Amino acid sequence: MNVLVLNGSPKAKSDTFRMTDSFLKGLNRDRQNEVTVINVIEKNIAPCRGCFGCWAKMDGHCVIDDDQNAILNLYQKADLVIWSFPLYCYAMPSHLKAVLDRTIPLVKMKMVQDADGKVQHEALADFSRLHTLVICGCGFPDWDGNFDGLRAMCAQAFCNPDMVCVPETPLLNVPAAAIVADPLLARFEKAGEEYARSLTLSPETIADLERPMIPKEDYIRNVNGS
Ligand SMILES: Cc1cc2nc3c(=O)[nH]c(=O)nc-3n(C[C@H](O)[C@H](O)[C@H](O)COP(=O)(O)O)c2cc1C
Repeated sequence: MNVLVLNGSPKAKSDTFRMTDSFLKGLNRDRQNEVTVINVIEKNIAPCRGCFGCWAKMDGHCVIDDDQNAILNLYQKADLVIWSFPLYCYAMPSHLKAVLDRTIPLVKMKMVQDADGKVQHEALADFSRLHTLVICGCGFPDWDGNFDGLRAMCAQAFCNPDMVCVPETPLLNVPAAAIVADPLLARFEKAGEEYARSLTLSPETIADLERPMIPKEDYIRNVNGS
């Protein structure tokens, strides 16, 4: 499989990427996949100008000549795209959102409706083999609503994405929390193995990955130092 990993954390030591890295270990256990990791923060990717110049030329590239066109080339070859990023203001970080916005050259202006009435732009190429996995870490403990906006956006923007949204991920950086962080990383590795077999994750596996490492009240107490 060609795997494209879009690492949207701006940090050199990303909590989220540690989970993604463990997942990749499991994914590659029995079969070495062709994995390309793009550290988006290191790339020169301007915001979309909204000019629709891409729809005038329809060659799968953006009229802005920066690093995005190389990402679009990788995207078109990918069997699996992993969007790995921290939750920022209930959404994806802005530099990664620029990458998502600028995938517009991969669709046409023409609109199509599916059986449920959902309206989309017709794809420029055949993306039926493409799988999408979203791995998102965040700083809050588990509470209803934190990931709602992101989940809604990803469900619309990607075709049937698998999504893993993990609370309390700064614990991955706390040596004293290794007792709960290491088992989570081990679960991510197992999830990678499962994904290699079935190209999806079961609801049970996702629930297991999203389970808070420590109870909410303990997490808040630790963060507040009280
Ligand atoms: C600008 C900014 C906005 C953030 N917004 C949220 C948020 O809406 N919800 C949340 O739970 N955590 C939020 N966080 C915390 C990060 O998601 C958290 O620190 C995460 O573990 C960082 O992951 P990384 O190490 O992979 O970059 C925010 C952090 C920053 C810097």
